[in-house]
This record gives sequence, structure tokens and C-alpha cells, in this order.
Amino acid sequence: MTPKKVSDSTTIMTELVLPQHTNTLGNLLGGELMHWIDICAGICAFRHAQNVCVTAAVDSIHFHHPIKLGQIVTLKASINRAFNSSMEIGVEVFSDSYTDGKVVLSNSAFITFVSIDKDGKPLRVPPVTPETPEEQKRFDEALGRREKRLQADR
Ligand SMILES: CC(C)(COP(=O)(O)OP(=O)(O)OC[C@H]1O[C@@H](n2cnc3c(N)ncnc32)[C@H](O)[C@@H]1OP(=O)(O)O)[C@@H](O)C(=O)NCCC(=O)NCCS
Repeated sequence: MTPKKVSDSTTIMTELVLPQHTNTLGNLLGGELMHWIDICAGICAFRHAQNVCVTAAVDSIHFHHPIKLGQIVTLKASINRAFNSSMEIGVEVFSDSYTDGKVVLSNSAFITFVSIDKDGKPLRVPPVTPETPEEQKRFDEALGRREKRLQADR
């Protein structure tokens, strides 16, 4: 299969935090953010595989900073590495309040997607060609994470 670049599938998604996305303290609900992360990473995986994919695993997500009502949330999903039918997608979540121009990295997550056929059988995906030192670092580190993930799943 012809290898693909990370930039071929990088996906940016922007959301405005509205009242229906928040808890009683006016903070973005964790579940809502996890939904956005899953969608953004899913689109990235679909673009790389050029096929429908399912979420196989979500690594731990940490919430370092509350995201408040009225803030803008930008999610950036990039493929770190493709294996056979599975892909590790990294998602970074940034929040900003547009008034002071400050952008904060609020969360990051790694999600594994598997490309499947109409019967749910895993399908091969193209390999990834890293082009920058940062992409190469993420590519190299993804292998160790995959091994840990699969060990934990046994
Ligand atoms: C994910 C799924 C397709 C894997 O199918 P399977 O029959 O177990 O297939 P295999 O054991 O051959 O694994 C296929 C790939 O998935 C990977 N995989 C399976 N379980 C995994 C896990 N827990 N974590 C990471 N990768 C996993 C395997 O490593 C393999 O990757 P590779 O082909 O790149 O080597 C299947 O378990 C499934 O359909 N799960 C439900 C998915 C779902 O409903 N998600 C939520 C809604 S989208």
C-alpha cells in the first residue's frame, strides 16, 4: 500500500462551549469533551484509511484545566502511526477565551482506531511516512504504547 503523510489526514475541529455542554459550575463536561475527541480522531482515521473505522481503545485522558462556558475549544487530531489494520491517533485540545488571546493546551489523548469492512473484519491501512522530527518522535513512541495497550487488553 502507498504510504501516506501525517498532513494528509490531520483534522482540526473547533467548538464553542455552550450551556448544554457544561455542568452546574459552568465547566465543559468531561463526557462532552471525550465525544468531541472521539469524533475528531475518528475523522482523522477515516481520512487516513479512506474507510470507516471503529474506536478500539482510548488511553487515559487527564483534565488539567477546566474549560469554561463561552470558551473556544480547538481539537487537533494527527495520525502517529499505522500498524496493520489499526492506527494510533493523537489529539490535542486547546482552549481560548478570544478576549486575551491566551491559548491553553487543556488535554491530550491517544485513541486507537481499526479500519473494518462491512462484516466488521479488520482491513489493512496504508503506512505513515513521518516528515518532521516531531512526527518521527510520535511515530517511534507509538510502538511502545501499542505494546502496553495490547498487554493490558489480554
Ligand atoms: C476493534 C475490533 C474491530 C478488533 O477486532 P478483532 O476481531 O479483535 O481483530 P484483531 O484481534 O485481528 O485486531 C485487529 C486490530 O485491532 C487491534 N486491537 C484490538 N483490540 C485492541 C485494543 N484493545 N487496543 C488497541 N488495539 C486493539 C489489534 O492490535 C489489531 O491491530 P493491527 O491489525 O494493526 O495489528 C473489534 O474488537 C470491534 O469491532 N470492537 C468494537 C468497536 C466499537 O464498537 N467501538 C465503538 C464504536 S465505534
